[in-house]
Amino acid sequence: MEQLRIKGGARGPHGAIAVPGDKSISHRAIILGGLAEGVTEVSGCLRSEDCQRTLGALRALGVEADGWEGDLLRIYGKGLRGLREAADTLDCGNSGTTIRLLAGVLAGQPFLSVLTGDASLRRRPMDRIIRPLTQMGAEIWGRAHDTLPPLAVRGGSLIGVTYRCPVPSAQVKSAILLAGLFAEGPTTVIEPAASRDHTERMLTAYGQRVERREREVTLIPAGTLHATPISVPGDFSSAAFLLVAGLILPDSDLTIEGVGVNPTRTGLLEVLQAMGGKVQVLPVDEKIGEPRAHLRVRASRLRGVTVGGDLIPRLIDEIPVLAVAAACAEGKTIIRDATELRVKESDRIRTIAGELGRMGVRLEELPDGLIIHGGRRLQGARCESHGDHRVAMALTVAGLQAEGETIVLDTACIRTSFPGFVETLERLFPDALERRG
Ligand code: S3P
Repeated sequence: MEQLRIKGGARGPHGAIAVPGDKSISHRAIILGGLAEGVTEVSGCLRSEDCQRTLGALRALGVEADGWEGDLLRIYGKGLRGLREAADTLDCGNSGTTIRLLAGVLAGQPFLSVLTGDASLRRRPMDRIIRPLTQMGAEIWGRAHDTLPPLAVRGGSLIGVTYRCPVPSAQVKSAILLAGLFAEGPTTVIEPAASRDHTERMLTAYGQRVERREREVTLIPAGTLHATPISVPGDFSSAAFLLVAGLILPDSDLTIEGVGVNPTRTGLLEVLQAMGGKVQVLPVDEKIGEPRAHLRVRASRLRGVTVGGDLIPRLIDEIPVLAVAAACAEGKTIIRDATELRVKESDRIRTIAGELGRMGVRLEELPDGLIIHGGRRLQGARCESHGDHRVAMALTVAGLQAEGETIVLDTACIRTSFPGFVETLERLFPDALERRG
């Protein structure tokens, strides 16, 4: 089993660095590229295991693609009616985005598809997509009374619906909107709080009519998707690990270049700034409706904050590393309204509380969040990733700050979202990391 050994007491990082392409945007570019008429060139496409699962599934459904050439992927779209039944099950690996978004596409296809994944994915709730997609007219079966993967999807003629999501989830919203491409009439999704809106922005770039009000989006399907070049910005969720490392380590002055700063993703920036973190946003440009900026971070004295409500969906993936920042801050940080963390790649409330607890952090687990008592020096420890990439990377950042050595076990999962994470840290912190296994 792969593991990372991290020497604690690292000095802060300096200079400039880039992070790989945004995972959410890359998945969507691959899917919409496969459904478009014409050739989609995706530059900056994230070549992680999760995105490779999406591409593999589309290839199994008849889509051709060249790549990757570096981070360029060329997809030969089949058009909305061009997919064909796959000869085998579609293995989505660890990727919730792959299984849920593809289920939306497959709900509109006149053939049978079976979607499965690894042990973690097979524990994640799928009733949240099965309910709306069956309302639209698809037939979907799953394990555990139609709640868990594997899923069998028999698609067909769909009708547009208005669906009120019980939880804010971009994966659910996107599954419904993608099914809406194949439906008769408009499809509306209403969310309890705004989730990331990359699907809406990209559908617009592909020539679809998307009408938006605050927590509501309507797709009026326009038939053909027209291929368009996609330039993927750096992944804010990957940059988050470097941002926090920059804040909590002494003397740092690091610029992370070309990061996507779509406001539905950057809740962490607001929280870190409210904690006293010195983070500057230097805008660069906007492509396919996605803004990009350089982020400059300097070592800072942080203080605890309270985080909850509508902000949560805008930083949901960053809570593991926010917990590390909170552990290094003066005073108490309270995170509420984040029950969704319990159904991520691991139960992140439990895994973060348990693993940071091993490093000497005082935390209280709440049903919907965490209370973190910051200010004590972290202690190096032997920690588990629980197969969760974001837990593995957050613990690695914690290990850089800690006193003594930290071992993070089971780190192969990092490749699902941030290939090159270890190499990036090796560049910023020469001699601090050792890879085993
Ligand atoms: C994602 C949506 C979020 C997020 C996940 C990626 C997406 O999940 O946590 O990492 O690409 O749509 P939920 O939709 O379950 O909130």
